[in-house]
Amino acid sequence: MASAMAASAIGFAGGSSAADVKEVQMLHWWTSGGEAAALNVLKQDLAKEGYTWKDVPVAGGGGEGAMTALKAMVAAGNPPTASQILGYYAVDYAEAGKLGDITSLADKEGWAKVVPTALQKFTTTNGKWDAVPVNIHSVNWIWLNKAAMEKIGGTQPKTFDDFVALLDKAKKAGIIPLALGGQPWQEATLFDSVVASTGGIDFYKKAFIDLDESALKSDTMKKSFDNLAKLRAYTDSNYAGRDWNLATAMVIKGDALVQVMGDWAKGEFVNAHQQADKDFLCYRFPGTDGSVIYNTDMFAMFNVPEDRKAAQLALADATMSISFQSAFNVVKGSVPARMDVPDTAFDSCGKKGIADVKAANADGKFVGSMAQNYAQPPAVAGAYHDVVTKFFHGEIKSSDAAVTELVKALNNAK
Ligand code: BGC
Repeated sequence: MASAMAASAIGFAGGSSAADVKEVQMLHWWTSGGEAAALNVLKQDLAKEGYTWKDVPVAGGGGEGAMTALKAMVAAGNPPTASQILGYYAVDYAEAGKLGDITSLADKEGWAKVVPTALQKFTTTNGKWDAVPVNIHSVNWIWLNKAAMEKIGGTQPKTFDDFVALLDKAKKAGIIPLALGGQPWQEATLFDSVVASTGGIDFYKKAFIDLDESALKSDTMKKSFDNLAKLRAYTDSNYAGRDWNLATAMVIKGDALVQVMGDWAKGEFVNAHQQADKDFLCYRFPGTDGSVIYNTDMFAMFNVPEDRKAAQLALADATMSISFQSAFNVVKGSVPARMDVPDTAFDSCGKKGIADVKAANADGKFVGSMAQNYAQPPAVAGAYHDVVTKFFHGEIKSSDAAVTELVKALNNAK
């Protein structure tokens, strides 16, 4: 299907010619086992169309390193065909006039009708499509080792206090309760869930989308920091600097009970041949069920020379095909960015993810992740990372001080 669509898209765009470069150059940070497996789905689809793949991987979960590399390539006038990108990073490139225009393909295939409006804010600029959404990830998930859960007699935690009680049980049983990678983006990603659980999703929106100062300074925000501090007590002593996928591996092996992480963690379970409900369990972060704090991976389509445009359109077309959105996201752990993709091929976590996105979208509870650059531009999100990480590692010593620092840092970065 992808091949027929891509061929027609290229035809529509004005025809591919012998002079076209049959290569897709892609910058990304998908270097873990699960991520690489997902990317292979795309490489294979494009290979079927006759495109070779020029990989530009920049390791580092959350994509900070990749974004630095991308900036250098764009500044040198040598952008990739496309780059994996999150939220406001794409907006910045679009506003700087660095992105191309794939609107004719988008219109022809009716993407505006199937991609949630919230996401189109990031995939379009002044009505023109300049990026494609590959998936919808969300950060407010917990991933548990099922055998460890059974061993300690644990049940699904519904509230933050339940969660702490569950972590206590694991600790008493000699299992590392919380697998965490102590890197700023991971701690910030954890804090997204803690804030939504502590204050509710409307509070999250007020604080992080509206940057409402009274919400940022509130007792609820202080309590959120206090709750984050409670979780710190359940990590192992080697957490500092650990990569996110190594933390997932601790849960996969049963060394740790749970990881709080976006659903890219599921890609690691799948890659390790583990099955939902049998080997691992997924729940929404306790107290956030019904809400989806999202970060969508997009491919930003840069301004490329004429002879690379057909390849760019072929990539966009392959990415947006229904069959690809299913196959890729089954492996990646995320859910499709198109709302018309059947959930048949997905496991129970994926089916829940798909249903959650639809329900949250209808209820106004589909909200961009602050940690993952979907709530605020990179400078503001970076300031958030800084304060959360300083608090987590004890440089900022109290929740009172953390709130003061947060307000100051966000105001400076705005
Ligand atoms: C991306 C995911 C990726 C994760 C870890 C997130 O920012 O959206 O696709 O798997 O980082 O690398």
